[in-house]
Amino acid sequence: MAIRLGDTAPDFSADTTEGPIRFHDWKQGSWAVLFSHPKDFTPVCTTELGYTAKLADEFAARGVKTIGLSVDSVEDHHAWADDIEATQGTAVNFPMIGDPDRTVADLYDMIHPNADDTMTVRSVFVIDANDKVRLTLTYPASTGRNFDEILRVIDSLQLTDGKKVATPVNWQQGDDVIIVPSLSNEEAAELFPDGWDEQRPYLRVVSQPS
Ligand code: BEZ
Repeated sequence: MAIRLGDTAPDFSADTTEGPIRFHDWKQGSWAVLFSHPKDFTPVCTTELGYTAKLADEFAARGVKTIGLSVDSVEDHHAWADDIEATQGTAVNFPMIGDPDRTVADLYDMIHPNADDTMTVRSVFVIDANDKVRLTLTYPASTGRNFDEILRVIDSLQLTDGKKVATPVNWQQGDDVIIVPSLSNEEAAELFPDGWDEQRPYLRVVSQPS
């Protein structure tokens, strides 16, 4: 069955390039980005993994661990990692799950047989500190994902959790945000004592809280 927003991310045991893990223990109260790529030694995947490695400090600053997956072996991942470092200029600094028997790929519905019945699609799961799925995303094999966008969504989710604001279209760090509709004006006045721009009763705009 498909994994939906708000579901508990399924736990699993797997071999990775950093040794065997049990997923929930490996996360241990952190957020996580679990993402699949179609195949080792392929061009788009090479650029994606290199760029994700370059973003290591950005993910760490948000309390997020990253972990990749394909249905290749850990041995292949290790060999490919040399190419990623050589061509992308950054060594892979997060674990890559080897899933040749497709255990995790099937658990997370990462193989879409009508697209390709052997390789994983480009799935992304953003999972919060309580192991709840907060974002799912599926891209086709030939389109590299935008990992800056994944960071942007994590920023938005963490702002909503911590500050009771939602983020409008094309929001970027520092832009105005929107008070969540579930907050009454009385509750909003406590959290936003400087007030807000009430463009409609349901559209209450405030500066991004720090
Ligand atoms: C790639 O990573 O370049 C790729 C992988 C599978 C199909 C097409 C492209």
